Amino acid sequence: MKPRLGSKARKVVGLSLFAGTLMALGCARPQNENWPYYGGNSGGNRYSSLDQINTTNVHTLQVAWTYLSTDTAKADYRPREIQCQPIVIDGILFATSPLLELFALKADTGEELWRFNPFAEKTPRYHSNRGVMYWESGEEQRILYTAGTSLYAIDAKTGLPIPNFGDNGAVSLHQGVGDNLERDEKDLAVIATSPGIIYKDLVIMGSTLSESATAPPGHIRAFDVRTGELKWVFHTIPQPGEFGYDTWPEDTWKVLGGANNWAGMVMDEERGLVFLGTGSPSVDFYGAIRHGQNLFANCVLAIHAATGKLAWHYQIVHHDLWDRDIACPPNLITVTHNGKKIDAVAQATKDGLVFLLDRDTGEPLFPVEEIPALTDFALLGEAPWPTQPQPTKPAPFSRQVLTEEDITRRTPEAHDFVKKRWLETRSGSKFMPLSKEGTLYFGIGGGANWGGNASDPEGILYQNSNEMVWDVKLAEIPSATDPSVTAGRSLYITHCAHCHGLDNKGAPGQDFPDLSQVATRLSAKEIAAILSNGQGRMPAFTHLAGADRDKITAYLTGTEKTDKLPDDIHNPIAAEVEVASGAFPYKPAFTLNGLNKFLDPDGYPAITPPWGTLNAIDMNTGEFLWQVPLGEYPELTAQGISITGTENYGGPVVTAGGLVFIAGTKDERIRAFDKQTGKVLWEYQLPAAGFATPATYMVDGTQYLVIAVGGVKNGHKPGGTYMAFALP
Ligand code: HEC
Repeated sequence: MKPRLGSKARKVVGLSLFAGTLMALGCARPQNENWPYYGGNSGGNRYSSLDQINTTNVHTLQVAWTYLSTDTAKADYRPREIQCQPIVIDGILFATSPLLELFALKADTGEELWRFNPFAEKTPRYHSNRGVMYWESGEEQRILYTAGTSLYAIDAKTGLPIPNFGDNGAVSLHQGVGDNLERDEKDLAVIATSPGIIYKDLVIMGSTLSESATAPPGHIRAFDVRTGELKWVFHTIPQPGEFGYDTWPEDTWKVLGGANNWAGMVMDEERGLVFLGTGSPSVDFYGAIRHGQNLFANCVLAIHAATGKLAWHYQIVHHDLWDRDIACPPNLITVTHNGKKIDAVAQATKDGLVFLLDRDTGEPLFPVEEIPALTDFALLGEAPWPTQPQPTKPAPFSRQVLTEEDITRRTPEAHDFVKKRWLETRSGSKFMPLSKEGTLYFGIGGGANWGGNASDPEGILYQNSNEMVWDVKLAEIPSATDPSVTAGRSLYITHCAHCHGLDNKGAPGQDFPDLSQVATRLSAKEIAAILSNGQGRMPAFTHLAGADRDKITAYLTGTEKTDKLPDDIHNPIAAEVEVASGAFPYKPAFTLNGLNKFLDPDGYPAITPPWGTLNAIDMNTGEFLWQVPLGEYPELTAQGISITGTENYGGPVVTAGGLVFIAGTKDERIRAFDKQTGKVLWEYQLPAAGFATPATYMVDGTQYLVIAVGGVKNGHKPGGTYMAFALP
């Protein structure tokens, strides 16, 4: 299995100059191998040609070093996620801490070389960060990454900001998002949780937005890597005169947002094309003011990297009503179809599908059918799209609809509880509009997520998946004539309830805090600061009028005067009128009651296992090689229940050593699977959850595997450690 000397190294896996020279001389195997991109290479393959660690010896892997990136023992430390997949360039590892500090380590020892704190001189805006970008030219080496509302360019050798990039090393991520909008750009709630991608001297960026009534549009931007200057903007919500404008009602572009790329992008350098997926349009669960197909929301886009011009688009959900963001970066894969090698784009989805598209044309390689969608039960003003795309191959890698058969049989009590809720709610179609009584469906945090997938040169796609049913409701936003609701409460329902719940109790175990007693923890001033700054997965609310923010704060702290609602607010009929005039913020007639997972009374998923899987799909044929459960609940295994799999966050890496490495599970372990059979060959109990994607690289002839440990996600214990493994 060893790569032959002189054979063309897989072009996309970056080899260091040093190794490259040795290869050219034909004298020895490379001693160093990089992991130069988030996703391993520019095509997002998460593949390494290293095979020192392989199926025969992986069981002997041991910890090589650990690095504590944030001191979690400090009194003022508040647990935050680390989802970062490091990059490695010529023996130096670059990554971020849970507090978004950027650091450089010697990749063979974990010894720190430098650290950069983006918030040394400003109010911190913490959020998850999945990786960083690397650019070099001559002697210059830069790391680009985002923290808060800024994109930073940092000298890779010193850790100091590049003085002539933007404003002393930082540019604002607001730029271009407000194109032609009559809103102050600096009030837009824009951050970026996944890295963008470098093309020549451009850094191309997506964004993370709220996806609710006040979301800005998710335009794609390119900045000059040298100066930070904005070079182009691609409007993911087309403006008058642009292709796709007619897939929305006139003027809604001024009011609505979303259609953002938050999960990261990939690049075909030879073609000069950047590929990315977009999210749902706002408001994600209710589309009464956006009748139409809504391009370029929920699309795979191919964009000319040099100019920002669209090459092609492929929409995977029309008029999304389910938050079916493309949550997973594309994977540039080469497959054999009808005896011909074809460069393709594999795009996996939250609902367990893989679309395989021709990289030049966007045409599906396996036929895709437009299947009829259920349009009954739509709530006031809604017009669901009548059909939705469904690939004929490969088969879905997660369940599509919830049936009675899927109701948990773990205990009779759990079964009865779940069945009762099932009988009260709607389920049974993937494309059923949400309802007031509750709708049960797979998606939201299901199927493929931000961890992405891995592919090897043989055209096999390795994809982890969540099987989780969500129980969500749409609740009417009280109308002006409802005397029981104050202005503060009404604003809360419009802007806050879909995360913090209609009952203000948050979503237990899911990082959305309970606000019902918030006044006992935070002062009005502190709440106001959170609203103007945002925090974690919560967007900033500077786009709301200051007076409205004050009303919400007064409501939450119990100091609101119970004045009656102004007549123009939150009346569905008023909302229709406002849309016509393009008024912002848009006031929808319904809001989500909260993002609730459907769990049994003991906190286990409400369905029969598997609850999480790892899949190997041959993209040449569209057939599955294997599907195995990913992760376990040790206490259930001890009861004799076969391994159930668990919800998982973070992606896989595949190597020439015949291994798929993946963590991400609720049992807080990292594992190596045999890529041929799906058998677990190694597992290691991490000190905290590894909700991140590992990376692998070689320094001085030793192959390392590294993973960020310490995801506080879903109630897991905090941490801030990077752990590297190697053979003894
Ligand atoms: C997209 C989901 C989302 C929306 C919308 C949202 N929040 Fe939050 N909120 C969060 C999350 C997640 C946190 C925890 C952030 C962290 O510390 O990492 C949070 C934290 C808070 C906190 C701090 C709680 C504490 O105990 O520290 C307050 C106060 C708050 N939110 C108020 C609001 C208000 C008021 C609104 C509406 C104007 C709102 N949020 C809208 C997700 C959301």
